[in-house]
Amino acid sequence: MSSSSNTTYFIIGGNRGIGFNLVKTLSASTDNVVIAFRGLPSLPKNKQLEDLKKSRDNIHTVQLDITDDESVNKIADEIRKTPSFQGIDILLQTLGSRIPTMRS
Ligand SMILES: NC(=O)c1ccc[n+]([C@@H]2O[C@H](COP(=O)([O-])OP(=O)(O)OC[C@H]3O[C@@H](n4cnc5c(N)ncnc54)[C@H](OP(=O)(O)O)[C@@H]3O)[C@@H](O)[C@H]2O)c1
Repeated sequence: MSSSSNTTYFIIGGNRGIGFNLVKTLSASTDNVVIAFRGLPSLPKNKQLEDLKKSRDNIHTVQLDITDDESVNKIADEIRKTPSFQGIDILLQTLGSRIPTMRS
Protein backbone atom coordinates (compact mmCIF):
# COMPACT_ATOMS: atom_id res chain seq x y z
CA MET A 1 0.00 0.00 0.00
CA SER A 2 1.40 3.39 -0.89
CA SER A 3 1.99 5.73 2.00
CA SER A 4 1.45 9.05 0.17
CA SER A 5 -1.98 10.51 -0.48
CA ASN A 6 -1.73 9.45 -4.12
CA THR A 7 -3.30 6.19 -5.23
CA THR A 8 -1.27 3.79 -7.35
CA TYR A 9 -3.26 1.81 -9.92
CA PHE A 10 -1.89 -1.30 -11.62
CA ILE A 11 -3.79 -1.90 -14.84
CA ILE A 12 -3.26 -5.16 -16.72
CA GLY A 13 -4.24 -4.50 -20.32
CA GLY A 14 -3.89 -0.72 -20.08
CA ASN A 15 -2.26 0.01 -23.41
CA ARG A 16 -5.41 -0.23 -25.51
CA GLY A 17 -9.16 -0.67 -25.45
CA ILE A 18 -11.04 -0.28 -22.18
CA GLY A 19 -7.81 -0.31 -20.17
CA PHE A 20 -6.33 2.61 -22.08
CA ASN A 21 -9.45 4.69 -21.48
CA LEU A 22 -9.05 4.02 -17.75
CA VAL A 23 -5.42 5.11 -18.00
CA LYS A 24 -6.40 8.39 -19.65
CA THR A 25 -8.92 9.16 -16.91
CA LEU A 26 -6.92 8.01 -13.88
CA SER A 27 -3.63 9.62 -14.93
CA ALA A 28 -5.32 13.02 -15.30
CA SER A 29 -4.91 13.38 -11.53
CA THR A 30 -1.65 13.08 -9.61
CA ASP A 31 -2.33 9.38 -9.01
CA ASN A 32 0.21 6.91 -10.35
CA VAL A 33 -0.73 4.48 -13.09
CA VAL A 34 1.34 1.40 -13.87
CA ILE A 35 0.32 -0.34 -17.09
CA ALA A 36 1.11 -3.97 -17.90
CA PHE A 37 0.82 -5.35 -21.39
CA ARG A 38 2.54 -7.96 -23.54
CA GLY A 39 4.16 -5.53 -25.96
CA LEU A 40 4.39 -8.12 -28.71
CA PRO A 41 6.67 -6.87 -31.53
CA SER A 42 4.03 -8.02 -34.03
CA LEU A 43 1.47 -5.56 -32.62
CA PRO A 44 1.59 -1.83 -33.48
CA LYS A 45 2.36 0.50 -30.57
CA ASN A 46 -0.47 2.68 -29.33
CA LYS A 47 0.63 6.14 -30.50
CA GLN A 48 -1.91 7.78 -28.17
CA LEU A 49 -0.31 6.05 -25.19
CA GLU A 50 3.19 7.07 -26.33
CA ASP A 51 2.03 10.70 -26.58
CA LEU A 52 0.24 10.59 -23.22
CA LYS A 53 3.34 9.21 -21.49
CA LYS A 54 5.35 12.15 -22.81
CA SER A 55 2.97 14.62 -21.20
CA ARG A 56 2.30 12.76 -17.92
CA ASP A 57 5.14 11.46 -15.78
CA ASN A 58 2.77 9.48 -13.54
CA ILE A 59 2.32 6.77 -16.23
CA HIS A 60 4.71 3.82 -16.17
CA THR A 61 4.72 0.68 -18.30
CA VAL A 62 5.91 -2.84 -17.56
CA GLN A 63 5.86 -5.96 -19.69
CA LEU A 64 3.71 -8.90 -18.58
CA ASP A 65 2.14 -11.95 -20.18
CA ILE A 66 -0.30 -13.39 -17.67
CA THR A 67 -0.26 -16.75 -19.47
CA ASP A 68 3.52 -17.09 -18.97
CA ASP A 69 4.59 -18.26 -15.49
CA GLU A 70 8.10 -16.83 -15.89
CA SER A 71 6.70 -13.41 -16.79
CA VAL A 72 4.23 -13.50 -13.86
CA ASN A 73 6.99 -14.51 -11.42
CA LYS A 74 9.16 -11.56 -12.54
CA ILE A 75 6.47 -8.88 -12.42
CA ALA A 76 6.83 -7.88 -8.76
CA ASP A 77 10.48 -6.97 -9.33
CA GLU A 78 9.58 -5.12 -12.55
CA ILE A 79 6.93 -3.02 -10.80
CA ARG A 80 9.30 -2.14 -7.95
CA LYS A 81 11.61 -0.52 -10.52
CA THR A 82 9.01 2.11 -11.45
CA PRO A 83 9.98 5.59 -10.23
CA SER A 84 8.83 6.53 -6.71
CA PHE A 85 7.21 3.12 -6.26
CA GLN A 86 5.50 2.76 -2.87
CA GLY A 87 3.09 -0.09 -3.49
CA ILE A 88 -0.02 -0.99 -5.45
CA ASP A 89 -3.37 0.25 -4.09
CA ILE A 90 -5.80 -0.90 -6.76
CA LEU A 91 -5.44 -3.71 -9.32
CA LEU A 92 -7.53 -3.55 -12.49
CA GLN A 93 -7.50 -6.28 -15.12
CA THR A 94 -9.24 -5.39 -18.36
CA LEU A 95 -8.86 -8.63 -20.25
CA GLY A 96 -9.78 -12.20 -19.66
CA SER A 97 -12.65 -13.63 -21.62
CA ARG A 98 -10.44 -14.82 -24.46
CA ILE A 99 -7.51 -16.11 -22.39
CA PRO A 100 -7.76 -19.92 -22.43
CA THR A 101 -5.15 -20.72 -19.78
CA MET A 102 -6.34 -18.45 -16.97
CA ARG A 103 -6.71 -20.33 -13.71
CA SER A 104 -9.72 -19.97 -11.44
N1 LIG B 1 -14.23 -3.31 -26.01
C1 LIG B 1 -15.51 -3.62 -25.78
O1 LIG B 1 -16.46 -2.94 -26.25
C2 LIG B 1 -15.88 -4.80 -24.91
C3 LIG B 1 -17.22 -5.08 -24.65
C4 LIG B 1 -17.54 -6.16 -23.80
C5 LIG B 1 -16.54 -6.93 -23.25
N2 LIG B 1 -15.23 -6.65 -23.53
C6 LIG B 1 -14.21 -7.49 -22.90
O2 LIG B 1 -13.38 -6.64 -22.10
C7 LIG B 1 -12.03 -7.10 -22.17
C8 LIG B 1 -11.12 -5.98 -22.67
O3 LIG B 1 -11.57 -5.57 -23.97
P1 LIG B 1 -10.75 -4.52 -24.82
O4 LIG B 1 -11.54 -4.22 -26.03
O5 LIG B 1 -10.30 -3.41 -23.96
O6 LIG B 1 -9.49 -5.45 -25.25
P2 LIG B 1 -8.24 -5.12 -26.17
O7 LIG B 1 -8.37 -3.80 -26.86
O8 LIG B 1 -8.05 -6.35 -26.99
O9 LIG B 1 -7.06 -4.98 -25.09
C9 LIG B 1 -6.66 -6.10 -24.39
C10 LIG B 1 -5.48 -5.69 -23.49
O10 LIG B 1 -5.08 -6.83 -22.79
C11 LIG B 1 -3.67 -7.03 -22.98
N3 LIG B 1 -3.39 -8.44 -22.99
C12 LIG B 1 -3.92 -9.39 -23.81
N4 LIG B 1 -3.43 -10.60 -23.52
C13 LIG B 1 -2.56 -10.40 -22.48
C14 LIG B 1 -1.72 -11.27 -21.72
N5 LIG B 1 -1.66 -12.58 -21.97
N6 LIG B 1 -0.98 -10.73 -20.72
C15 LIG B 1 -1.02 -9.41 -20.45
N7 LIG B 1 -1.79 -8.54 -21.13
C16 LIG B 1 -2.53 -9.04 -22.14
C17 LIG B 1 -3.38 -6.39 -24.31
O11 LIG B 1 -1.99 -6.13 -24.39
P3 LIG B 1 -1.23 -6.18 -25.84
O12 LIG B 1 -1.60 -4.92 -26.54
O13 LIG B 1 0.20 -6.25 -25.47
O14 LIG B 1 -1.75 -7.41 -26.55
C18 LIG B 1 -4.27 -5.17 -24.23
O15 LIG B 1 -3.66 -4.18 -23.46
C19 LIG B 1 -12.02 -8.34 -23.08
O16 LIG B 1 -12.12 -9.49 -22.28
C20 LIG B 1 -13.28 -8.15 -23.92
O17 LIG B 1 -13.78 -9.40 -24.37
C21 LIG B 1 -14.90 -5.62 -24.34
